[in-house]
Amino acid sequence: TRVWRGLIEEFRDRLPVTADTPVITLYEGGTPLLPAPALSERTGCEVYLKVEGANPTGSFKDRGMTLAVSKAVQDGAKAVICASTGNTSASAAAYAARAGITCAVLVPQGKIAMGKLGQALAHGARLLQVDGNFDDCLALATKLSIDYPVSLVNSVNPDRLAGQKTASFEIVAALGDAPDFHCLPVGNAGNITAYWMGYTEDLAAGNATKTPAMIGVQAEGASPLVRGEVVREPQTIATAIRIGNPASWTQALEARDASGGVIRAVTDREILTTYRTLPRTDGVFVEPASAASVAGMLASVEDGTIPRGSRVVCTVTGHGLKDPDWAVAIGPSPETIGVDVLAAARSLGL
Ligand code: F0G
Repeated sequence: TRVWRGLIEEFRDRLPVTADTPVITLYEGGTPLLPAPALSERTGCEVYLKVEGANPTGSFKDRGMTLAVSKAVQDGAKAVICASTGNTSASAAAYAARAGITCAVLVPQGKIAMGKLGQALAHGARLLQVDGNFDDCLALATKLSIDYPVSLVNSVNPDRLAGQKTASFEIVAALGDAPDFHCLPVGNAGNITAYWMGYTEDLAAGNATKTPAMIGVQAEGASPLVRGEVVREPQTIATAIRIGNPASWTQALEARDASGGVIRAVTDREILTTYRTLPRTDGVFVEPASAASVAGMLASVEDGTIPRGSRVVCTVTGHGLKDPDWAVAIGPSPETIGVDVLAAARSLGL
């Protein structure tokens, strides 16, 4: 049997590393490309989920962080810094801990999910809650990284994108070619940029015969790329993608246009409906931002953007346990009973 050694070792020849690069890994990547029978039945398409919640810290950020932190350590960094809506901070904190360096994170106060806050603290990050939104946090983190000896590990760091492109490599390897459509949520727009990079590299390398149309999905209240202008006060229950001025704006539009895809918005209602349905039908519990990807796929099938019979991959970017509050809030209230078999049977309708 062969053991997965993390994505730097698995894709070494396709990543910007040398023999001298220290490999800081938690054995990220190699996540399931899971067929989704209920979604396939519903859409008439062949739908797969790229389950990025299966990464070590529960989100796709680990793909970028293994490379960004390894390269930072190679360059002699003693500290890394990031702005985050939660997942980046959880991942940076874990990889910095593994590397034995300091991690500083700036998050929008009161706007990150409890699971993610807990992770950053558990891994020993120096966490500052900023009285502002993600865009303010990123501006602050960028200034700090210029003025102080601390290395920025947001997705403006090219090593992050290089790590994240490996998800496309895994999909092409699993399917034997690129899919027809690839749907994913868009916040700061690093991931759509990275996936597109991965798909185009696979085409150039002869591993794939085509590239997919990229379907980027934003939350309606935080959809600058759809509106074509910065959103000053982004609003959505999907806090991970509550971003009004994405750093990789231009690259995301390039990916859209070069792939023949679209960037579209879904409402919080559509996000919550998918958040509730997906774990009950295809058995995969994802955080609200990740549900946006599937909600965008459903809307695209509905309006004909994705024709029936297409092969479609949706990246579900983060685990449902990151942000379980919504599951508890919108699920039915559990009943309380005594230690009584008959009462239990009656309540369960047995
Ligand atoms: N899905 C999840 C679960 C995320 O955490 C993010 C981004 C995205 C999608 C969007 O990816 O920014 O590359 O377009 N989270 C960042 C963070 C902003 O700080 O954790 P993107």
